[in-house]
Amino acid sequence: MINKETIQRIMDTARIEEVVGEFVSLKKRGANYIGCCPFHNEKTPSFYVSPSKGIFKCFGCGKSGNVVGFLMEHEHYSYPEALRYLAQKYNIEIEEEQMTEEQKERQTERDGLFHVSEFAQKYFADLLYNDEMGKAIGLSYFHQRGLSDEIIKTFGLGYCLDEWSNFTNHARKNGYSDQALEKTGLTIFKEGGKCFDRFRGRVMFPIYSISGRVLGFSGRILSKDKSSAKYVNSPDSDIYNKSNILYGIYQARNAITRENKCYLVEGNIDVISMHQSGVCNTVASCGTSLTIEQIRIIKRYTPNVTVLYDGDAAGIKAAIRAFDLLFKEGMHVRVVLFPDGDDPDSYAQKYGSTQLQEYLRNNEENFVKFKTQVLLDSVQNDPIRKTEVLKEITNTIALVPDVLERQEYIAQTAFKLRMSEQVLAMEVTKSMAANAQAEFKAEARREQQNSSTPTGTAPVPPPLEPGPEDYENQPITPPIVAPRQVLANENTAEYQERQIVKLLLTYGAKRLMTKYINEDNEEVEMMIPLANIVVEDIMADDLKFDNPTYQQIFDDFSNAVANEDPLPDANHFATHSDNMVRNTALSLMIEPYTISKHWLEKKNIAVPTIETHLYADMDESILSFKLKKVEQRLEENAYNMRETKNEDDMIILISERSQLLEMRQAIGIKLRRVESCKSKS
Ligand code: CTP
Ligand code: MN
Repeated sequence: MINKETIQRIMDTARIEEVVGEFVSLKKRGANYIGCCPFHNEKTPSFYVSPSKGIFKCFGCGKSGNVVGFLMEHEHYSYPEALRYLAQKYNIEIEEEQMTEEQKERQTERDGLFHVSEFAQKYFADLLYNDEMGKAIGLSYFHQRGLSDEIIKTFGLGYCLDEWSNFTNHARKNGYSDQALEKTGLTIFKEGGKCFDRFRGRVMFPIYSISGRVLGFSGRILSKDKSSAKYVNSPDSDIYNKSNILYGIYQARNAITRENKCYLVEGNIDVISMHQSGVCNTVASCGTSLTIEQIRIIKRYTPNVTVLYDGDAAGIKAAIRAFDLLFKEGMHVRVVLFPDGDDPDSYAQKYGSTQLQEYLRNNEENFVKFKTQVLLDSVQNDPIRKTEVLKEITNTIALVPDVLERQEYIAQTAFKLRMSEQVLAMEVTKSMAANAQAEFKAEARREQQNSSTPTGTAPVPPPLEPGPEDYENQPITPPIVAPRQVLANENTAEYQERQIVKLLLTYGAKRLMTKYINEDNEEVEMMIPLANIVVEDIMADDLKFDNPTYQQIFDDFSNAVANEDPLPDANHFATHSDNMVRNTALSLMIEPYTISKHWLEKKNIAVPTIETHLYADMDESILSFKLKKVEQRLEENAYNMRETKNEDDMIILISERSQLLEMRQAIGIKLRRVESCKSKS
């Protein structure tokens, strides 16, 4: 267990914008950073990082948290893993506390899978250089394929001895459980207790996560034996999902950002060869056809993808499939086709890195042009084929977002197919309309699904003290939307409640000069945190919030005030055990507050900041809140008067009504005074 002082040091040192910046390309926007959210797919950035508060928040999908929360969500780290990652990044030495037996047992199963995978990678890599067979077979294979020792180390390559269970025995001796060995697929267990190494006799390519953790392996056979598969891959597990990861992304990510471009190849060896040839912005899709999830990983770093494929028929077909998907995700796609029979690796080995780089530069083609050409070539005067191809080409061109680019393709295609440009343009428009409609329908379906999920009926979970353990075990849940009935009711105090909570969250700790009656009944002036003033004022009237989330946030403040604890800060809410509280609080804290350009440019009006009017704002918020609450009670009162048949009750209601009306008047007068002060200043 990491001790408290170390955790504090880590939290003090870690810069959220630096940590998030490793995974998301961020741009400075005022005091915050903004980028495309890594947790959902989006074209316009709504993901905010606040360096001063140390938190992130996506206004699209609602995800939010602090730097540790980001790593847990993004890298699927446990709480201690995230801390260790930060400690390593910032060179902080970790001081451990003795782990209890119970804590040891509680180590998650996923931790076990990570550990055994890392262990396996080290073991396989070690054999390559320190074992006779490893050297003779594994290392010489890699050398024979032209890989340098340096690149072998960069990619953590290794060898699994050609024995039944050499690795499994070694792992067991080192205390790794059969369960972890089975779940990672490193060992295959047969009925009757027999087991053997999945990758025996293969050279090993570890598959790394974006941040460099070993998730799984790809093992290549050495013999030319056609009866067993050339590559064997780890099965999907709790830590490895082949459709969610790109081979080489860990080694390539910085280069992808730097070059603002990503090369996509077919095979592991292709990735490694490209890197060795100095083209480090290269990844592959781990032996599966490209998936949306993989595209979204690339998209975090760049919108530009160049697909490199073999020139054979299968290669071209795979390329076209990948393109369509990339295009739909809004990527800028280009293609380089290698001469028939060559892949990037064989080309690099044959001609060397300079010529490879030159080939890439000179043969890069626009995707639509390429696809159109491939399709047109396949027509060959066959009228039926021509109709089919026409349909495909129109569908492809319909995916091009840029109107000028679209027109260019239409013109080219019309010329090649000897048909009217207008007719083709019309077909493209039809196809675009169909796409839009399909998207619209899908959207509507999604919306319906969202609204049909029950709201407000779920039991409120008991409040938890969010200790590190709870935080660690917290399930990752989708963002929750505010209960609909609260927002739908016209006479809610939603706006006023929100203002109070926002004030507390933003300026709660700010000290204000306040007049105060002491024990000797003298008036004294004191600097008191804004939160104390607001909390005491609202508690004095025993007012409640309609919105349970706001109430919870308010309670956190009022408890701190009552117990003279430090006021809850950004970190308190970023690690809050209640998702709704966490998301709402963080939204209110870093809500993008954009001043209308219209005001700034056209009228040259200086918009007063909330800070210059803090006193007035505070008074106004509290008074508005109280006024709303009185109005709500007046409404209730009127309803009860209509409904009641009992005369005694009626008398009580009438007296209540006159009290409420008096209160309303008093608040109204104060409110007008505040407002007139505000408008004068
Ligand atoms: N692949 C796989 N299983 C197979 C064959 C291929 O998972 N049975 C995946 C591997 O990720 C491989 C990629 O598909 O890297 C491309 O396959 P291929 O072109 O056959 O292999 P190369 O990468 O060219 O490998 P090598 O050069 O070592 O033959
Ligand atoms: Mn190859």
